[in-house]
Amino acid sequence: MKLGTKYIHAGMEPDPSTGAIMTPIYQTSTYVQSAPGQHKGYEYARSQNPTRKALEDALAIIENGKYGLAFSSGVAATDAVIKLLVPGDEVIAANDMYGGTYRLFTRVFEKFGIKFHYVDMQDVKNIELKVNANTKLIWTETPTNPLINITDIAAVATLAKKSNALLCVDNTFASPYLQNPLDLGADIVMHSSTKYLSGHSDVIQGALAMNDADLREKLYFIQKSCGAVPGPMDCFLVLRGIKTLHLRMKQHCDNGEKIAHFLRGHPAILKVYWCGFEDHTGYAIAKKQMRGFGGMMSFTLKDDSMENAYRVLSSTRLFALAESLGGVESLINHPASMTHASIPKEERIKIGLTDSLIRLSVGIEDAEDLIEDLNRAIG
Ligand SMILES: Cc1ncc(COP(=O)(O)O)c(C=O)c1O
Repeated sequence: MKLGTKYIHAGMEPDPSTGAIMTPIYQTSTYVQSAPGQHKGYEYARSQNPTRKALEDALAIIENGKYGLAFSSGVAATDAVIKLLVPGDEVIAANDMYGGTYRLFTRVFEKFGIKFHYVDMQDVKNIELKVNANTKLIWTETPTNPLINITDIAAVATLAKKSNALLCVDNTFASPYLQNPLDLGADIVMHSSTKYLSGHSDVIQGALAMNDADLREKLYFIQKSCGAVPGPMDCFLVLRGIKTLHLRMKQHCDNGEKIAHFLRGHPAILKVYWCGFEDHTGYAIAKKQMRGFGGMMSFTLKDDSMENAYRVLSSTRLFALAESLGGVESLINHPASMTHASIPKEERIKIGLTDSLIRLSVGIEDAEDLIEDLNRAIG
């Protein structure tokens, strides 16, 4: 099945009680049993909900996995993966990734005795150097947020297997339309469904997909025991979002390419971070493991001052100054003070996340209007 057909039909069965073509929003907390223990597979909505079940089936299908699990946010999905570990276990994570993931690891899980190593995952050797007998998980994000660095998923998967560690890939930036980490050997794929999967900036949600039944049981146990489940209305919205993922992603990619080239040619701009440039360090790997280069990019200004960055950030009219990404509308963001403010300044600067770095989530408006907006704002 081709991607568009798959996204429209994934997890969809006509509702058994009415034949409704759209999955109903089962807004219920519990299910009536005819006798104790006699029920239709649904007991209590933290454990099971038919709208969530349809979405979880869809999540598995769109990531070429066997199982999907939906969570109340992307960080809740990440939290569930880390809860597979016990004190003394070690994790190797990317040194350039979403700031909230870094905050969860350092501020919440370190105090439970889990050790995190942060390395530049553009070179697999850096990961290999940190592997030891306690390494239980490798956590990568590719392309990274916000520096658009690329990790070779297949190479890291080989290393993870050899090291008896799980590999989890945060696939939020690429979306399943551009990249399927399970096909490349990852054990778990994670999404902030808030972003491209929902696609309309109207829901907070997270997802995991996997192939291994035992792993699914462990993660399902955490999902229902810890309780970070999404409501049925939000599951419905993500299910609806998935149906147009291919159309939106095509447009994000087309607009992304036009805007990246426009920015690169602009005299006031110092550097553009976008993995579709042939001279991007990760280009060859991106070309190998992705179906396109997406609409996420960052740039720095030649006048590398905070004031200049703030001037640009406050001058766009179409690009809205906001956290988040992956919606139909274009967003502009300042990682140092917004999405990545939780990373200490010295750590940020070390990896190139400078004070004047500006991140764009290029939406699906008309590219000419977006370019005009940026041109005016950059000046
Ligand atoms: C790459 C990435 N992973 C995870 C998350 C966390 O997801 P959520 O905000 O849905 O909890 C985000 C949020 O911005 C993100 O950009």
